[in-house]
Amino acid sequence: MKRNVLITGGAGFIGSHVVRRFVERYPDYTIYNLDALTYAGNLRNLEDIESARNYQFIKADIRDGEAMLNIMQENKIDSVIHLAAESHVDRSISNPMAFVETNVIGTVNLLNAAKTVWREQMEGKRFYHVSTDEVYGSLDDGGFFLETTPYDPQSPYSASKASSDHFVRAYRNTYGLPVVISNCSNNYGPNQFPEKLIPLVINNILNNKALPVYGKGENIRDWLFVVDHARAIDDVFHKGADGETYNIGGFNEWKNIDIVHLVCAIMDKKLGRPEGTSQKLITYVTDRAGHDLRYAIDANKIMKELGWEPSLQFEEGIDQTIDWYLANKEWMDEVTSGAYQEYYREHYQ
Ligand code: NAD
Ligand code: DAU
Repeated sequence: MKRNVLITGGAGFIGSHVVRRFVERYPDYTIYNLDALTYAGNLRNLEDIESARNYQFIKADIRDGEAMLNIMQENKIDSVIHLAAESHVDRSISNPMAFVETNVIGTVNLLNAAKTVWREQMEGKRFYHVSTDEVYGSLDDGGFFLETTPYDPQSPYSASKASSDHFVRAYRNTYGLPVVISNCSNNYGPNQFPEKLIPLVINNILNNKALPVYGKGENIRDWLFVVDHARAIDDVFHKGADGETYNIGGFNEWKNIDIVHLVCAIMDKKLGRPEGTSQKLITYVTDRAGHDLRYAIDANKIMKELGWEPSLQFEEGIDQTIDWYLANKEWMDEVTSGAYQEYYREHYQ
């Protein structure tokens, strides 16, 4: 079956894995990767598939509603997988408005474009919104986030994602737009921008810089390998029921400090440094404002209904991830130059 699929944010971390998967697995689809190439977008992530016959890159900003309409019209887009977003919680604390503009207004621009272009025939169309488990808030003890857990976002980032989720559901309810949503836990893997915990720790160990651990390092996240998330997105896109929500997670909870210790130990081995060398770089710093204590996803619905499950053990995934960063130091040097350095200085120094 032929499809014209618009993937937004395809030059980013998760988006690039989704674009690669769709370009390689679905030769009958034309994949349009729409990305504004902000600090987090990098076309080098897709060098291996950029000349594929069924792939096209479009540089555009989802904050521009008219551009979204024209792009969807001109390319006869029948499916949207929407990942473009401002995605870093710390940045949302220092500049919330950027999150409103991209995550809320940008999403509504795309919804409006889809509603207009698909108005005569909604059948066979699909608007897939990729969201986060952070919309559910923070778990302070046992328990898991279910698809039915009430929204309780705590940071400007999660509030903007929650708002965009609500708009997506409202467009189905009000205009009959065919939508599906997934909410995923923390991803890790190749191509993640080194402002996020795991690549930041890897990069700082390589450069002998302090490893900043917020608060006591006791906050808990549920980690999933990015390729497993891309596979789940494929399943939800093709098999998910209209109007449904699917939670995606790894059943893999770790305290931040334990992850930092694990990465330190693996890096020491791989770099041939004496055991304990990297650990000495750990520095406890002021906690993130409003820091959510624990996230944990119950992924039973997607496992039972769509047959998805995580494929990699965390220890194996982390090992592969570190190998990727060690083999791609140029990638790291490129993305950590310029504007990123400035942000890093402002935030940490
Ligand atoms: P990322 O920051 O690595 O990539 C975001 C991409 O969006 C970049 O390529 C950037 O250039 C693009 N972009 C940003 N603003 C744009 C705009 N105005 N117009 C067009 N493009 C724009 O993010 P990520 O970690 O890959 O996350 C992708 C999506 O998945 C986000 O919607 C995020 O909320 C969601 N998510 C992320 C995680 C995670 O652990 N990283 C987990 C669950 C859900
Ligand atoms: O849960 C899904 C979310 O996971 C996604 O929606 C977000 O886009 C993604 O950024 C991620 O959010 P987190 O805030 O959990 O990820 P981050 O890597 O920023 O932080 C992970 C944990 O590590 C968190 O508890 C804060 C802590 N941390 C982070 C950094 C950057 C530190 O202790 N030190 C740091 O320098």
